[in-house]
Amino acid sequence: MADTEEPVSEGRRNFLRLVAVAAVGVTAVGLLKGGISDLIAPTLGLTSFPTLTIYDTTGKPLLYENLPVNSAEVYEFFYPLSNEPSFLLKLGDKTGKPLNITTGPTPKSRATGVTYTYPAGVGPSGEQCVFAFSGICQHAGCIPPSIKYYPPGFTIPGYSSSYVGQSGLIHCSCHGSTYDPAEGATIVTGPTQNPLPGIYLEYNATTHQITAMKQMYGPYIYGHTSDLTGGAPLGTSYTPITIIKTG
Ligand code: FES
Repeated sequence: MADTEEPVSEGRRNFLRLVAVAAVGVTAVGLLKGGISDLIAPTLGLTSFPTLTIYDTTGKPLLYENLPVNSAEVYEFFYPLSNEPSFLLKLGDKTGKPLNITTGPTPKSRATGVTYTYPAGVGPSGEQCVFAFSGICQHAGCIPPSIKYYPPGFTIPGYSSSYVGQSGLIHCSCHGSTYDPAEGATIVTGPTQNPLPGIYLEYNATTHQITAMKQMYGPYIYGHTSDLTGGAPLGTSYTPITIIKTG
C-alpha cells in the first residue's frame, strides 16, 4: 500500500501552518478564547495532533540525559494515534559522542521525487541529536523490532551497501529497507520508496523533558491517507515509552 500511497500534501501542511500562525495573531489581539489546536481542521480520529510529554517506563517524564546515545534497544511510544508506533533516537558518532544536527535535512521520495524539509535534532546546545520517527516501515508496514536502529559499528544482517552516514542506520528486516536517521530518515536502500515520517519534538532546557509537538513531517504514516485517519485517539496528556530489548 505504501507504493501507491498519496505523497505528502505540502499544500495541506502549509495550510495548517498558516492556520497556526493566524491563531497566534488572533490570540495576540485578545480575540481568541481557545488554543491553537482548536483551530486546526478536525479529521477522523483526533481533533488535532496532541502535544504530549513523553514518559519513561517508571511513569516520570523522560529526561534527555536518561535517553541513551546510540541505543540498539527500541524506545517506542505511540503517536499521534494509540496504534501508531514511533521510536525515539539519540544519535551519536561511532565514539558515542552525541551528534549536533542543527540543519534540517531534505530527504526525497523515490516514488514521486518530492523533497521534504525535516527539522534539526533537539537537545541541549551542542547536542541537538534527538529525533523521533514513525516505527512503521514505509515499504509494507513492518513495525519494531523488525524495523529498528543499528548504531555505528553494529552489523546489519543482509546489508551490503557501502553507505556510511554520520550515525547508524534504521533497517527493516522484512525486506531490507534502510534509512539514515541523521538525514531525516532518508532512503539508503529500498524497496521503500519513501523516507520515514518524523515527529516534531521540543526539548525543554529547564526541565530537560522531551515533548512530541502537534505535528509530523515527511510522508504520511504508512497505510494512511492523512496523518490522523484510521486509528484510535490517544486520549491522554502523555505518551509512555516501551523499551523493546533487541538482543
Ligand atoms: S516492510 Fe520494511 S522493508 Fe518491507
